[in-house]
Amino acid sequence: MSDRIERLLASMTLEEKLGQLNMIDAGMPPGGEDEMKRQIGAGTIGSLLNIHGAEKLNALQRLACEESRLRIPLIFGLDVLHGHYTIFPIPLAEAGAFDPNLWEKTARASIEETRRAGVTLTFAPMLDVCRDPRWGRIAECPGEDAWVASRYAEAKVRGFQGSDLSAPENIACTAKHLGAYGAVAAGRDYASVDVSERLMAEVYLPPFEAAVKAGVATIMPSFNDLAGIPMTAHGRFLNDLVRGQWGFAGVMVSDYTAVAELIAHGVAEDLAGAAALALKAGVDIDMQDEAYVRGLPAALERGLVAMADIDRAVRRVLDLKMRLGLFDDPYRHVSAAPLSADAAAEITALAREAAARSIVLLKNDKGGLPLKNPKRIALIGPLADAPLEMFGPWFAAAPLHSATVLEGLRAAMPEADIRHVPGVTIEGDDDGGIPDAVTAARDADIVLLSLGETKDMTGEAHSRGRIELPGRQRALAEAVLALGKPVVAILTHGRPLALPWLFERADAVLATWFLGSEAGHGIAAVLTGAHNPSARLAVTWPYDGGQIPIYHSHRSTGRPANPEVYFSTRHTDLPIEPQFPFGHGLSYTRFAVTAVAAAPAEVAPGETITIEAEIENQGEVAGEETVFLFLRDPVASVARPVLELKGVAKAVLKPGERKVVRFTLNTDDLAFLDRDLKPRVEAGLFEIFVGPSADRTRLTATTIHLRGAATP
Ligand code: NOJ
Repeated sequence: MSDRIERLLASMTLEEKLGQLNMIDAGMPPGGEDEMKRQIGAGTIGSLLNIHGAEKLNALQRLACEESRLRIPLIFGLDVLHGHYTIFPIPLAEAGAFDPNLWEKTARASIEETRRAGVTLTFAPMLDVCRDPRWGRIAECPGEDAWVASRYAEAKVRGFQGSDLSAPENIACTAKHLGAYGAVAAGRDYASVDVSERLMAEVYLPPFEAAVKAGVATIMPSFNDLAGIPMTAHGRFLNDLVRGQWGFAGVMVSDYTAVAELIAHGVAEDLAGAAALALKAGVDIDMQDEAYVRGLPAALERGLVAMADIDRAVRRVLDLKMRLGLFDDPYRHVSAAPLSADAAAEITALAREAAARSIVLLKNDKGGLPLKNPKRIALIGPLADAPLEMFGPWFAAAPLHSATVLEGLRAAMPEADIRHVPGVTIEGDDDGGIPDAVTAARDADIVLLSLGETKDMTGEAHSRGRIELPGRQRALAEAVLALGKPVVAILTHGRPLALPWLFERADAVLATWFLGSEAGHGIAAVLTGAHNPSARLAVTWPYDGGQIPIYHSHRSTGRPANPEVYFSTRHTDLPIEPQFPFGHGLSYTRFAVTAVAAAPAEVAPGETITIEAEIENQGEVAGEETVFLFLRDPVASVARPVLELKGVAKAVLKPGERKVVRFTLNTDDLAFLDRDLKPRVEAGLFEIFVGPSADRTRLTATTIHLRGAATP
């Protein structure tokens, strides 16, 4: 392969080389469509994004492979964050299933559709750990925890890429956005980030390292700067760490116009300077701004870059094209034939399963759920029959329909009299429809209140300062709640919403996120009890936006939060605890962790520790329990978080059944980064907690001692 690449490289003009580094948005080509086609034929565009569909795509591939001088095939890129044609739950929701098998399966199912549409590279998985629900892109991420995000990274890379990039069922994928994009100031998209090197190393980078170890083909640096250095120009991370230390040999692709944006960041004077900074930092493909094709010739003349820098990037791009098998068959992924009915039905069934398994039962007092065959149901609220709103941020190739709550309920409860009244719109000031909604609610046996956000309130460039219900939805909800009827709230949202008044007054509340094409069926399955809710929060749910950032793995501080202690770390006007902790999620049955034991109780470096926890289903129905294993190192030379997630286990249990789940740790899992950010294991006591969430009062503790290591 490398000979072939070298021969090709030797025959390329500078223009053709830069063409390989030039990725253009086929939906919005800077020079218009004809110019884009001309450039493909001239070999000065190497890849396209935002295009799918056999016919369109094959026509452009033909231009590259038949008209361009060197006949180098194009890569086609697309964001497939949570589905292509069939939309799956948003990543933040799916993360809550805490199931790598599901994460892998939905990735595979997505690309079954995507690759037929000719796409050979997806800009997913999104691996930005996020602890700020104001940031719109929290919807796209796997939550607040680096350990979870790392497992998610591995599963998604396996799902998208399989073990061989050239196999027709696989495509290349992108770990994005490196790094710490989830920590943008005040949750404002594209804002600056200034986190410590320690936080980078402990929290924001591990998911990317996991993706690299899993063989991810490409990496996308994030839009943000880190302490003044835009990630697109951050050679220390991109080159030294990711390529140098982690051994990443793939392609770095810039985010959309991020190279030219180095000028606006204030680190480059012109396009030549911007292009040189990005290329030198390790960015191979320049997305959409033509900064490389326009800027690098001048940068070469000025001596800002050398031909060797360009060649290095071109080699990597050609290598990816070869590994994808595109030189052998540029049309290999494309299929004009529709999926077989069986295959399509399987994907739909998976989307339905994923939807049901992503719903978190936040509250269920008075046994409001599952529904007990009510005759008259009032389905109130603007999100009950909103087919487009179920999608969330990414749905470019989907048909404009999804199963709504109304549709799902009607299918699941054909006997029930379901009266739907929107009452208000999602946004907007008009509350003229509230009286009708109240009348419908008054006549019903139970009220289902369908409230939340539009699909456009999260995702890129959709940060919000207030994480509450928009429009007049609160007025609607309060008018209905005032009737004193049983009320089940069904929330549709891309972020946790601070609604303490609702959590206090509704009998039951479901967090249903954006569940995608099969949303309504998943929701109906949980409402009726056909699916016993099993998902958990992959992110801490604040009581109030003023608590942000609030997350489970914080440090103790010298004055730990204590409502009774005046001089302790807290807000005087807000609770210390979040509304719901990380990992929270109820079931229709009751589980208990009845025993936790770690063996051996004393370990030496290099040894393995086994932790067993017995789980019992003490309720009346079967269900799936998820238990988390957290570690705490109470005394170390660098203060450690109060809880560090180290494992997740699941058990499916019949009523009365008990099972033992097993976690294995080795002493490297006890390590932390010392004062010089080098891994270090220190002797002493470690606390291990096992339980259903990060709520300390619900965790069962045990301890182990590490002997024979350095002392703190
Ligand atoms: C900008 C987004 O930040 C990135 O996630 C996405 O992959 C690109 N646009 C391409 O759509």
